[in-house]
Amino acid sequence: MRRNALLAFATAALVASGLAVTTARAAESEHSLEHQRWSFDGLFGTIDQAAAQRGFQVYKEVCAACHSLSLVAYRNLGAIGIGEDQIKAIAAQYNVMDGPNDAGDMFERPAKPSDKFVAPFANANAARAANNGALPPDLSLIVKAREGGPDYVYGVLTGFVPPPAGVTVPDGMYYNAAFPGHQIAMPPPLSDGSVTYADGTEASVHQEAHDVVTFLEWTAEPELDARKKMGVKVILFLIVLTGLAYAVKRKVWKDIH
Ligand code: HEC
Repeated sequence: MRRNALLAFATAALVASGLAVTTARAAESEHSLEHQRWSFDGLFGTIDQAAAQRGFQVYKEVCAACHSLSLVAYRNLGAIGIGEDQIKAIAAQYNVMDGPNDAGDMFERPAKPSDKFVAPFANANAARAANNGALPPDLSLIVKAREGGPDYVYGVLTGFVPPPAGVTVPDGMYYNAAFPGHQIAMPPPLSDGSVTYADGTEASVHQEAHDVVTFLEWTAEPELDARKKMGVKVILFLIVLTGLAYAVKRKVWKDIH
């Protein structure tokens, strides 16, 4: 009897923690965003590395023209399974300002794996000037920074639709179903075939959006995978410990009754 009660308690605790994670996410989305299936959903979810790598390609070839990713260093890409040599080659495609050298001058050099992602614009004013006065936000934490998280970012990327009758959108603005206020200064960044995936995945707008959001989930919470794996281990350990403690208790008390 007692053993059953214990087991039931442990199971209930597990289920409850799983539910808490899911409902926390659900409560965040307000704009009736369609929930997508994410590899990182739920208690046992992890970042799908192949999707994250494809998403990095989308970021690098499309989004990086306007959006910085200032909290991520090139070497961090190792965590989504990109090899060291490839990381070196990626970093070397960019130039960073370094210095001062012995003569007191600043100088440009190719980026190293330890450098943070090089931003597309020198400063916020330059970024605004190139984007019709609007500032493309840094994307490192965007998935965490917005209500609705991954579903919201996916919603913005796939939400460019013709405005409803009677709504006029000013020059340089675009109608977007998911963006609050529905007028966004970002031109639709994705189209079918914006990138060519090396693994042969078909690059539809939905696929590209899904992949880049998986990548941005990782940049926003790079330690998520490790934390979830540790959490599962801890819970397994506690269940085993509970069983052991119970067995010991029975043995110790056997003769005393
Ligand atoms: C041509 C430049 C440009 C490109 C390319 C671009 N963006 Fe943007 N993006 C902007 C600008 C400008 C804004 C600010 C819009 C505003 O505030 O109206 C923005 C805003 C956003 C937002 C923020 C919405 C919010 O809630 O504030 C997200 C998310 C976003 N972009 C993601 C992306 C992703 C992902 C890509 C690549 C697939 C991308 N963008 C490509 C210019 C761009």
